Amino acid sequence: MNYNEALTKLKEYGQEHVLKYFDELSEGEKAELLNQIDETDFSILTALEAKKAPAKKGKYEPLAAMELSEIEANKDKFYAKGIEAIKACKVGAVLLAGGMGTRLGSDDPKGMYNIGLTKDVFIFQRLIENLMDVVKAADGAWIPLFVMTSEKNNDATIKFLTEKNFFGYNKDYVSFFKQDMAPASDYEGKIYMESKSRMATSPNGNGGWFSSFVRAGLLKKAEEFGVEWLNTFAVDNVLQRIADPTFVGATLLSGCAVGAKVVKKAARDEKVGVVCLEDGHPSIVEYYELTDEMMDAKNEKGDPAYNFGVILNYLFDIKKSVAVMEKKLPLHIVEKKIPCLDAEGNFFKPETPNGYKFESLILDHIYEMGSCLPYEVVREKEFAPIKNKTGVDSVESARELCKKNGIVL
Ligand code: UTP
Repeated sequence: MNYNEALTKLKEYGQEHVLKYFDELSEGEKAELLNQIDETDFSILTALEAKKAPAKKGKYEPLAAMELSEIEANKDKFYAKGIEAIKACKVGAVLLAGGMGTRLGSDDPKGMYNIGLTKDVFIFQRLIENLMDVVKAADGAWIPLFVMTSEKNNDATIKFLTEKNFFGYNKDYVSFFKQDMAPASDYEGKIYMESKSRMATSPNGNGGWFSSFVRAGLLKKAEEFGVEWLNTFAVDNVLQRIADPTFVGATLLSGCAVGAKVVKKAARDEKVGVVCLEDGHPSIVEYYELTDEMMDAKNEKGDPAYNFGVILNYLFDIKKSVAVMEKKLPLHIVEKKIPCLDAEGNFFKPETPNGYKFESLILDHIYEMGSCLPYEVVREKEFAPIKNKTGVDSVESARELCKKNGIVL
């Protein structure tokens, strides 16, 4: 793409300022910027227009979860089915580690964060230790682990895990893949520059994980291992149970295309998204969309009908994921801190949010899967997310929960 072509493309979306410093750039930098403009899909910015109009939602109905008592009553059957699938290498694990973790505010990948107090305990280490429990239970059958990174943290992630010898995991069963990036803009939809020769970009959300996985050639690799199901989970939950045999067995026996670990809401109006059906599809209703009527609705047992929140731990049927991967997921506009150039062309890292990132979300992938088993787990045992340094969902709260679960930090 040459300068004039780039200018035409930018004009179409009101982004000519991207070329503001073009004359100051070296030949190499000019080529890099033109290439970035060529590769960027600016149409995502039109999502900002849509933001002004309230999103159209379908008709919500409750989706019953498989609750603890039912799981307990069937646990031997579920476990046997799940561990058999794991031993046969039918289950892979996908670690979503492409996010920027801006709320935690560390420059390193979130998984490198050390939550230890008397010794090193890195987030990646906690996750791998949890996965190793299942490898042991499966008589040493390794579970293929696929790690999603982004352009921003891929090299640091690989270097760290390699230096740590994958915390004892068999490296022949670990693969990495990069997710795509999307431009980030100010509140008026003007793309920020992160240097004079580069538009500010950020990872495009966790919703595109499966298409990035396939594009990286990993579907083929997974199939060669014999993998039929992928347990996809977030990097930041340090109590995350991965490839949990009972959950795997329950999902496989349910006939659903996806299983979702859920926890019971702590209060009627707790600020969590709740699993439900939307026009017959599994979906999540955000807490601010829950009407009083929905909060008070009861199921046939007399319990709240919208009572379970997701914890970003899903088991996906690969075949069904392939069948729906061409469906375009909606874009979500998320307010974030975006490091960028100021009006004088100086780089700065904002202390507070200064614009928008454009992300697709894994929740919308669940919708496309058509059928879902919400599977209850005990919050205090399996859910300790680290989003912030202090307060709710923080390093502090996660440390407390680890302690309660006998994990030495
Ligand atoms: P979060 O919603 O917590 O986003 O991600 P984040 O970007 O990591 O953190 P903040 O909001 O900037 O503080 C939930 C999970 O999805 C992954 C994250 O790594 C985490 O495991 N994720 C998120 C991706 O893999 N890619 C993305 O583009 C966004």
